[in-house]
Amino acid sequence: MVSNHSHRQVQEQGIIQYIEERLPVDGLRELAEKKKVPLHKHSIWYYLGGIAAMLLGVQFLTGILLMVYYVPEINSAHASILKLNSQINFGWFVRSLHSWGANLLILALFVHMFSAYFMKAYRKPRELTWWSGLLLMVICLAFGFTGYLLPWDEVSFFATKIGLDIAEKMPVLGHMVSYMLRGGDSITQATISRFFVIHVAILPVLLVGLLGGHLFLVQVHGISEPESFKKLPPEKKSYEKFFPTFFFKDILVWVLAINVLFGLTTLCPWGLGPEADPFAAAPIGIKPEWYFLAPFQFLKLIPPMVGPIEGELFGILLMSVVGVVFVAVPFFDNGTSKSYAKTATIFGWLILAGLIGFSIWGALS
Ligand code: HEM
Repeated sequence: MVSNHSHRQVQEQGIIQYIEERLPVDGLRELAEKKKVPLHKHSIWYYLGGIAAMLLGVQFLTGILLMVYYVPEINSAHASILKLNSQINFGWFVRSLHSWGANLLILALFVHMFSAYFMKAYRKPRELTWWSGLLLMVICLAFGFTGYLLPWDEVSFFATKIGLDIAEKMPVLGHMVSYMLRGGDSITQATISRFFVIHVAILPVLLVGLLGGHLFLVQVHGISEPESFKKLPPEKKSYEKFFPTFFFKDILVWVLAINVLFGLTTLCPWGLGPEADPFAAAPIGIKPEWYFLAPFQFLKLIPPMVGPIEGELFGILLMSVVGVVFVAVPFFDNGTSKSYAKTATIFGWLILAGLIGFSIWGALS
């Protein structure tokens, strides 16, 4: 007679065989067994990409639920969010999860981006991982910008107006892009329609494709090792298996992040201001979301004219140059020159200090 234990083993074998005959899981299993994570004092930063991926999952799930009630129509958008907040069971909760989730996601992405930068993970052969990551960052910021307008309250309306007015000043494409996004010269129904479609259809498609590429590249190249770790003799280097060791730690970190998210969601539920009135004057001291505050504050400090160039245009050009160097850093710092490596690190610290400094200044002023 077959014991219960061996009966279960036979059943498990059967299931595994069934899957293996239909899906090429062998390669995946091999990959999972081979993948390893370097252990050193900076290993903690390896969790950030995973946290971002988990938070993205939360955004997709809560976003789909929000779409059930949200009405992308100028006379109903605000009322539909008000109804969600006050009449629909757990509506406030789902909306608050989505709003706080977006903020935590962008925060996690900034930390992920700078930790990859300072660990010099952009160097050969990971240039494409770096650039796909930067595009993901732009997409997530675009999610934030387009989503912010949708509740159609006073702050969201005027913050969007300021953002589009700044975009308008960009050289060459500025006017065309902001005109297309608005659907004209002012923010109207056409703008809500465009922002809604961009937010719920165009950006998700771009994001899913690009994220697939990003994660594929991470598997192809394995996790990068910081210079100080690479230099160690082999007997001093230690690793842990990705599966199951690091994977289970990843899940533990996700649980912690979800606790932070649920704490914020329930203790500080996301509010809703009065309905936007496009004909009213902008409330005094209106500011964009915290992740756009640094460029906003920087532009405010520039005088109206810098020589023959308009101040805002000058500021935008200056920030664009800094941005281009940040994007192109794998070309300058490719691991062959110590002085370039040092310069890249100092440049990174300056950008980080600038972002934090101007954001705090913008928040306080
Ligand atoms: C939706 C956004 C993103 C998700 C879900 C994501 C996810 C991940 C994951 C899971 C990893 C592997 C684990 C880790 O090193 O953290 C990773 C690695 C990496 N990511 Fe991202 N990422 C995103 C955006 C970005 C951004 C904005 C950048 C920077 C421009 C970036 C650059 C990199 C680099 C260079 C690596 C390789 C790190 C290494 O090998 O040490 N990623 N990403």
